[in-house]
Amino acid sequence: METVTAVREMKARCRAWRRQGLSVGLVPTMGFLHRGHGSLVERSVLENSRTAVSVFVNPAQFGPGEDLEAYPRDPARDAEYLRSLGVNILFLPEPSEMYPPGFATFVEAPSLGLRLCGASRPGHFRGVCTVVMKLFHIAVPDRAYFGLKDAQQFFILRRMARDLDLDVSLVPCPTVREVDGLALSSRNSYLTPEERAAAPLLRRALLEAEGYLAAGGRDAGEACSLLRGILASDPRFSLDYAEAVRTEDLSPVGTVGGETLIAAAARLGRARLIDNVIFDPDPPGRGRPRRGEGGAPR
Ligand code: PAJ
Repeated sequence: METVTAVREMKARCRAWRRQGLSVGLVPTMGFLHRGHGSLVERSVLENSRTAVSVFVNPAQFGPGEDLEAYPRDPARDAEYLRSLGVNILFLPEPSEMYPPGFATFVEAPSLGLRLCGASRPGHFRGVCTVVMKLFHIAVPDRAYFGLKDAQQFFILRRMARDLDLDVSLVPCPTVREVDGLALSSRNSYLTPEERAAAPLLRRALLEAEGYLAAGGRDAGEACSLLRGILASDPRFSLDYAEAVRTEDLSPVGTVGGETLIAAAARLGRARLIDNVIFDPDPPGRGRPRRGEGGAPR
């Protein structure tokens, strides 16, 4: 595995792969890697001839007063882990390499990025879209891998790729969890042992909402109330949002009819935990074909 820090060199390496006819997988990350990131990398290594992983704590997606400085970092351990997974290139740029003086252009999908996490993190998804767009141009991947732990991020990036006619397939990957259900996250390192023990309540609350839908309930408001009720049972949790939205455009759902994202975020001590469930009352393969099915993969 080689480590590349310059955009120019990264472009040259990735374009050379393409000229040789090799398929390229890209896994964008902010580092402090765990098995959740590892699952994306493993899939890319399986599905592509070459895999590049970026580790870049992207300042553009952090708001003022957020944890940019405190965000955990361990590039040496990350490099060791990525090497063990068979990654070909680790792209590890400095902020000044990605955002040189005078940088002024941003990509955003405001109608999808203002709700859910976007409501409490203004500008967050603009920063995410911009850096991912840059990484796509730099690495020209055939496929890029994203975790459904950050479901809103995935659906926004999928919209961006469709709207801007990008030639990259965005591959959604399931959330990797601890045995007690807590979604792995670099930010879990902010939790004290007591908070860590309480943290799976968020997952339990989401499963309660999913259980209501699986049993035939279709009132999205009721599903979210059940979720809120469970989180309210532990005063250490402070709910940021619990919402049901359509996966297609992240618009609010009243009565659950199509593929629906139930997403929640809550503060617990220094950490802000997010998690979600995706429920489809009419999953593909069962019953009628759905709009958008059967087209070219994106
Ligand atoms: P980061 O939080 O480091 O996550 C990198 C990728 O790993 C994302 O696609 C995220 O959804 C995925 N991931 C994180 N935890 C996961 C888990 N428990 N199971 C499965 N996948 C998981 O998300 C970002 O970085 C940034 O916003 C980025 C896309 C890199 C842009 O800066």
